[in-house]
Amino acid sequence: MVKVAVLGAAGGIGQPLSLLVKLHPAVKQLSLFDVVNVPGVGADLSHICSDSQTTTHLPSSREDKTALASALKGSDLVIIPAGVPRKPGMTRDDLFNINAGIVKGLAEGIAENCPKAFVLIISNPVNSTVPIVAETLKKAGVFDPKRLFGVTTLDIVRANTFISQLYPDSTTPSQFNINVIGGHSGETIVPLYSIGNSKKLYDELDEEKQKALIHRVQFGGDEVVQAKSGAGSATLSMAYAGYKLADSILKALTSSESIVECTFLNLDSSIKGAAEAKKLVKGLDFFSLPVLLGKNGIEEVKYEILNEVSDSEKKLLGVAIEQLEKNIEKGVEFATK
Ligand code: NAD
Ligand code: LMR
Repeated sequence: MVKVAVLGAAGGIGQPLSLLVKLHPAVKQLSLFDVVNVPGVGADLSHICSDSQTTTHLPSSREDKTALASALKGSDLVIIPAGVPRKPGMTRDDLFNINAGIVKGLAEGIAENCPKAFVLIISNPVNSTVPIVAETLKKAGVFDPKRLFGVTTLDIVRANTFISQLYPDSTTPSQFNINVIGGHSGETIVPLYSIGNSKKLYDELDEEKQKALIHRVQFGGDEVVQAKSGAGSATLSMAYAGYKLADSILKALTSSESIVECTFLNLDSSIKGAAEAKKLVKGLDFFSLPVLLGKNGIEEVKYEILNEVSDSEKKLLGVAIEQLEKNIEKGVEFATK
């Protein structure tokens, strides 16, 4: 029996993501937590005749920790899209002051109530919120780096879609699975079009078009923020992306299929390939890379891809690493001091 908890379930991402999880055949219990509106979302979802049961958990006050505890107890997988989204003109880092505290509080709840759960962090800035969760779990003595996932899947989803849009007559987005590595904001997002089945089509583009494609993936979030004109950021595509990663983790739990996904992870030496990866990214403790999933979460980091990148991708990685260092440090400092 799989229990999934969504924290921030009444939000723009939380609602469609909860709907998708509600439909997942492996999920038997869907636990919805939010600080507002969650009973209505739960009542609505509970009428769906899929085989999972829905429960809702709304704290009665700021001090009430029982709602979070009941939401989390027994959870196998926790997905966190709680926190504020961007408005036009803001960077993801501008969300840090509000979201860092929200994510830290939720991580404390996980440490207490379901320390062995797989934890997927959607809340921005991912480059800092994932280190915050790692440090919070470490402080509580329950951190397992194999079970913590920063969700960067939307960058892969965009990378697949955007290259296909350049070749609408000969390709479909689903034929691609572009590796997007680094982090999840602006220039820390590094799509590797020169590797895999996108290489030939990417090489056909002139330099200007290649740059424009990379830029579109790196700043794809801005397109949605601007189009929504103050009403938030990507929610539906994010719900799809979050569900895609959650589904892969659930599949890896229940089958012997080899499943590889990119995720922003802690490059802890207990994970196969992580020490090698860390050396190649100038000692950073967190980085998004393809990982092999298994019954215990991240089985192996596919670091070899870092040796396959083109010269221009190497330059992009240099910029990404420089920015990531600061983002990671900011998260670690927040959680530890
Ligand atoms: P939203 O404002 O629509 O929803 C956020 C929800 O979180 C709200 O329902 C709010 O009540 C809830 N919340 C606030 N504090 C909480 C707490 N302490 N505990 C539980 N719930 C709490 O925002 P959204 O559009 O759903 O975006 C959520 C976050 O996801 C933002 O930080 C956004 O930047 C981020 N995001 C990340 C990605 C990604 O690729 N990783 C993509 C899109 C958005
Ligand atoms: C995205 O990439 O769409 C999200 O990180 C939300 C944002 O702020 O752009």
